[in-house]
This record gives sequence, C-alpha cells and structure tokens, in this order.
Amino acid sequence: MARSRTKRVFDTDKRIRLGVWGLGRGMNFYDACAKLHLDVVAGCDFNQHMRDNFQKVNPGAFVTDNAEEFLARDFDAVLLATFCPNHADDAIQCLEAGKHVLSEVTAFHTMAEGVRLVEAVKKSGLVYNLAENYPFTAPHVYLARRWREGLFGDLIYAEGEYVHEIRSLAYTYIDGMPVEPGDALHSWRSWLSFHYYCTHSLGPIMHITGTRPVRVVSLPSTGRLAGFPAFKTDGLGTVTPSLITMDNGALVKNLMGGTTNDTHLFRYWGNKGAAVVDGGLSLRLGGGGSCPMHRVKADWGEFTPLVEGMGHGGGDFFVLYYFARQILFGDPAPFDIHGAADVTLPGILARRSSLENGRAYDVPDFRKKKDRDAWRDDHDAQPRPDVRHGLFPRRADKTLTHQFNHTISRLIYLMHDVRAYKDWFAVVDDMEDPAQALPLADRVIEVYPEIRETAGTALKLVEAYPKSHGARLLRELLDMMDADTVLSDAFPATVRKARRRVKRRMG
Ligand SMILES: NC(=O)c1ccc[n+]([C@@H]2O[C@H](COP(=O)([O-])OP(=O)(O)OC[C@H]3O[C@@H](n4cnc5c(N)ncnc54)[C@H](O)[C@@H]3O)[C@@H](O)[C@H]2O)c1
Repeated sequence: MARSRTKRVFDTDKRIRLGVWGLGRGMNFYDACAKLHLDVVAGCDFNQHMRDNFQKVNPGAFVTDNAEEFLARDFDAVLLATFCPNHADDAIQCLEAGKHVLSEVTAFHTMAEGVRLVEAVKKSGLVYNLAENYPFTAPHVYLARRWREGLFGDLIYAEGEYVHEIRSLAYTYIDGMPVEPGDALHSWRSWLSFHYYCTHSLGPIMHITGTRPVRVVSLPSTGRLAGFPAFKTDGLGTVTPSLITMDNGALVKNLMGGTTNDTHLFRYWGNKGAAVVDGGLSLRLGGGGSCPMHRVKADWGEFTPLVEGMGHGGGDFFVLYYFARQILFGDPAPFDIHGAADVTLPGILARRSSLENGRAYDVPDFRKKKDRDAWRDDHDAQPRPDVRHGLFPRRADKTLTHQFNHTISRLIYLMHDVRAYKDWFAVVDDMEDPAQALPLADRVIEVYPEIRETAGTALKLVEAYPKSHGARLLRELLDMMDADTVLSDAFPATVRKARRRVKRRMG
C-alpha cells in the first residue's frame, strides 16, 4: 500500500458521521473511530443496559431502541452489529435509508438473501463492507505483503481455524449480562451451526493469497460439549470442518468449532515457501519441506503506531480504515460486497453439504447475474428453535426459572475452575513446573462459596423440572463438575491437602 494513499485518509478534514446499530460488539470500535475521523453520533439497541453504556461513553449522541427512528437521523454510515442471521435484512434497511454499511460478520444467512444484498448494494450506489477483521493481525498483514511480492509462490494448501468455545454466550450477551428473561436462550448463539460462522478462518486465507473459494464439501459431526443447548442440528458446541477448493486449484481446510482447545492457527503452503501463524509468525523458505524455518518479526508497517493496542490484534482498526477510505476516496476494501459474498457463501453451502453427507457444492460468484439467478429463490436455512420458550414447562415457577441464565453462565466458569484443578492435579507429578498448578487449587478455594450457592440453585431447578431441557443442561455441567464430590463438606479440606502435598514436593 503506497504511503501517500494511506495518508490521504488521515490528512483529510472530512468527517464521517457514524451510527452504531447493535451496542454489544458495536461498542468495540470506539478507539479506532477516533483515529479515523469517524464521529459516532447515534446508537440503537433493544437492550437498556447497552444504551446506558453507550450514553455514558458518548453523552452527546442520539440513542434509541427503535431502528426506524435511528435510521431516520441525519448521518452517513452504519456500523451494523445486530443479530448474526439478520445482517442481510438489516443492511438492506440501512442502504434503503441512504446509509453506507459496515456489517459485522457474516454478510447473509441464506443464498437468496445474498442475492438480494448484492443487488441492493449495486442499486444503492453506497459503500458496503464486511467487518471481517482476522486478516489484519500483524502476522497476516506482513504475510499478505510478502505473498504479493511472490515469496511463497502459488498457494497449494492452507488451513485456517476459528475454534472458539463461547458456551456462556448461549445464555448471556457479549458484555456478560444474562439474557432476559432468564429462561430464554440467546437469539442465535444458542443454536447457529458453526458452519455459518466461516469468515474468520477463511477470510485471512482469501486475503493473504488472493484466491477465492469455488467448491466446498463437508461431513456431519456429532460431538457436543456439555452445557451447550442441544437441538437436533449442530450448534456452536461442536466442530464443523470443511474442505474448500480455491480458484487456483489449491485446497483449504476451514475449521470452525467450539471445543476443548481454542485455536486460531493458520498454516500456508505455497510452491516456493510456507508459513505458520500461531500468534507469532514462522516462515519455511527455500522451496523444500526441510528447508530452514525461522521466526520473523511482523508488524503493520507504516500503520503500526496507530494500530498497536487496537481490538482483535489490530483487525478492528483496519476494517474501519478500509471502510472510511472507500467512502472518502472510492478505493474498494478487501471485503467489499463481493469479497463479503465470497467469504460468506462457503459456510452456507458447507452446512448443506454436511447434511447431505458430503455432497460437494460449487460456490457461485455473485458478481455474475447468471450465478445470482441460479440461487435467487433458494431460501434454505437452519430451522430456528424457539429461543424464548422451551427450556422449562410453560407453567413453571418463573421466580425460579428466571434464575437459569445467571446460574448456568456462572456454572460454566465454576465447572472450568473445578475441572482445571482436578485434572491438573491428576497429572501434577508430570508437570515440568508443578507450581503452575497451585493457583488452580487457590482459585477453587476462593470461589468455593459461589460454587455451593450456584450449584445449589442449579440443583433446585433440576429437582423442580427434572425432564426439562434446562435441567438436562444443568445436569450435564454438574456432572462435569463432579458435583456430588465437590458439594461434600470434606471437599475444601481435600483441596488444601492436595495443595500442601505439591508444595512439600516442590520443597
Ligand atoms: N469480528 C469479530 O471479532 C466479532 C466479535 C463479536 C461479534 N461479532 C459479530 O457482531 C455481531 C454482534 O455481536 P454481539 O455479540 O453484540 O451479538 P448479539 O446478538 O449478542 O447482540 C446484538 C445486539 O444488537 C441488538 N439488536 C439486534 N437487532 C436489533 C434491532 N432490530 N433493533 C435494535 N437492537 C437490535 C440486540 O439487542 C443486541 O444487543 C454478531 O453478528 C457477531 O457475529 C464479531
């Protein structure tokens, strides 16, 4: 990227007036807005606690819970961070109100919505970008530059991962507040197939290597972590890998999932060199499998002083930067509407492929009318469970069942505390540094009163409605925690004793 081009965005005295629709994730962009001449002038959210928070940060801005009222205000662009499966319709509503749109991932939820969105953007003449931020961490920005220079040659194979266990977000908002009423599930994180959420693992590979997906295949997966809502279809508590052919013939493994090891590993094999992004960056250069592999220092080049400390490893800055640049100067962003469609489509089709036991699908190119026409009327979508009812019987005692979301979201973390203590102490004699296990015992002792109280409420709910979906989820977590043992009066003394033994052994 030429320096003069970069500087144009910062040198101008033009301002972009931004409205934020969805004040959970939508609140993460504040610092970057300030650096990019974007003035946040309006906010919209159903949730009172989010509106209050928005107003605290931005006392002069207009705020409402009403989308029509919000979009009727005079501003230039919307940062769209509403419910994931609603983005296409919400984005179209913004475009129709004459606003540019920076939409959170993913761009759309069905093939037909994708067609509608692409055509609505074309018709509007406004800027639409997808806020796909994972390609803009320092290692990926560095790799993109070197890839364009030809250091790695042509892509042969790559693996991208977004393995992120976000179990408690089935029951709370992103700010940790339990969903209200307390016996309703989160609107989409409680059921959405992880296939749909395919952009953080595929986006970097597309951006770095300049390739786009053309065919996708996936197989069913059935595993599920305890305490994830259990509907008939897969949700965010399982793994959903797919295999994608790119337009140069390369293959890509795209792995999403919520399981017991969060990873964001990326591996790239070109025909001249290879790279591994594992937080840092290693390159293997020399054109052969056993050639030298070394760590390299990666930064964001001339952007570094602006980007350091920004959310998602700098990614949140870059999506706003490209958006502002396209609005001000017309330079297309990496994830304009076509990039957005390219990175969203493989997830929709991978889910379908897995349901059809591995039937491969061609990924259409929505730049072409012929491809859009082929999918224009395809409304296939994962069935949406009734998230407002279904955890407990309708006539259940609400004073009890409304404690469910608070209880289960705490139980998830307390279960982790207990399991981490128990399982690490089971292998403590094998640890290189057994001292690392001691804080795990300290933590269990510290939170023991909360464990008793939370597990106590969970047990009350289980006993009151033993056959309910809610009881099943709580029971799974209580079992994971070994609640019978943990709730016995002898447990804290056992923990202290185990801790003393390790301390003695360490001398
Ligand atoms: N790129 C990233 O790193 C990243 C991280 C987190 C979330 N996200 C994406 O951002 C989006 C928002 O994330 P979240 O965690 O805040 O999601 P969420 O679903 O918990 O929250 C959406 C918010 O929008 C509000 N909302 C939705 N529709 C509305 C409407 N019509 N009128 C008024 N308010 C409305 C809801 O009240 C809620 O507070 C999601 O699609 C998610 O995929 C991206």
